[in-house]
Amino acid sequence: MSARRQAVFVDVDTGVDDAMALAYLFGSPEAEVVGIASTAGNVGVQQVCENNLGLLQLCGRTGVPVSKGAEVPLSAPLRTAEDTHGPQGLGYARLPDPTSEVTSYDAAQAWVRAARAHPGELIAVATGPLTNLALALRAEPALPRLLKRLVIMGGAFDYRGNTTPVAEWNVSVDPEAAAEVFAAFSDTGELPIVLGLNLTENVMMTPQLMSSLAAAAGTSSSPMSVDDPRGTASTASDPLIRVLEDAMRFYFEFHHDCGEGYLAHLHDPLAAAVALDPNLVTYRSAPVDVELTGTLTRGMTIADWSLRWGRKPNALIGISVDAEKFFDRFISRVGAFAAALPHS
Ligand code: BDR
Ligand code: CA
Repeated sequence: MSARRQAVFVDVDTGVDDAMALAYLFGSPEAEVVGIASTAGNVGVQQVCENNLGLLQLCGRTGVPVSKGAEVPLSAPLRTAEDTHGPQGLGYARLPDPTSEVTSYDAAQAWVRAARAHPGELIAVATGPLTNLALALRAEPALPRLLKRLVIMGGAFDYRGNTTPVAEWNVSVDPEAAAEVFAAFSDTGELPIVLGLNLTENVMMTPQLMSSLAAAAGTSSSPMSVDDPRGTASTASDPLIRVLEDAMRFYFEFHHDCGEGYLAHLHDPLAAAVALDPNLVTYRSAPVDVELTGTLTRGMTIADWSLRWGRKPNALIGISVDAEKFFDRFISRVGAFAAALPHS
């Protein structure tokens, strides 16, 4: 590759789709993942760290620093989502034991260190609750100006929630953190890209697409089906595809039980792909804020499209996506990356 690789910092609550987002970034030749912040969310923060370290081990990327974040949100008690992502966060998948450990500094410091090490060049992606980003912004208020781009998977704009009738999971777990993050971007030129459920639910992984992924990795695997017994293990010989299939099966089953079909929304991989190529999505800018006190609406993200608040826009909200282009890219990149990993 002739062009320099772009430094990418990722904040995740791994999580099935977070793991797929990381695999996408590892498989993207223009990206260099320079740090991973582990945030409590889908599972507790210690488990998120173990998942990130185990995934790096599986992907042969043990040199990427993984930092542990806060145990709990800024002021709310922690809620986790084992029903959605499995008891350890990766569905039925089992990761190898990691040989590396978390950094001596925490995830908020990791944000600040990465931004200062790559001033004006760092691409950041947050696919979990925004607890550690909010703490990083308290420690370094210049952070928004140090970043080249920030992509947040969170919120639901003019769209129902997936956690309460109006709130999306990442914002709902730590609404105070999300509110602080949106406030911090009120005075900066470069607006964060915010991908809510209104957008990410257009990106649906299916058994057919999982078969295409296995084929792209050069591995044969039994097609996944709604008729399979629950927890049927992947037969893929490729170790990464096996983990992704075993993780995805749990996610399929969850979506199926929610009445959405035997499929799964790839919220976080879309955020990773948009971080590297914002042209996958179209946007509208608006002032965004988070409801913190509503008895029924806490955690709701509100976009003031008609500028009634008299505030400047602080977000670029994704409003349409080329899902087919995304999947073509996801399958070719993750497939090629999986094929190139050593098979034991
Ligand atoms: C978000 O919630 C989590 O469960 C997923 O990993 C994703 O980041 C979608 O609401
Ligand atoms: Ca996530």
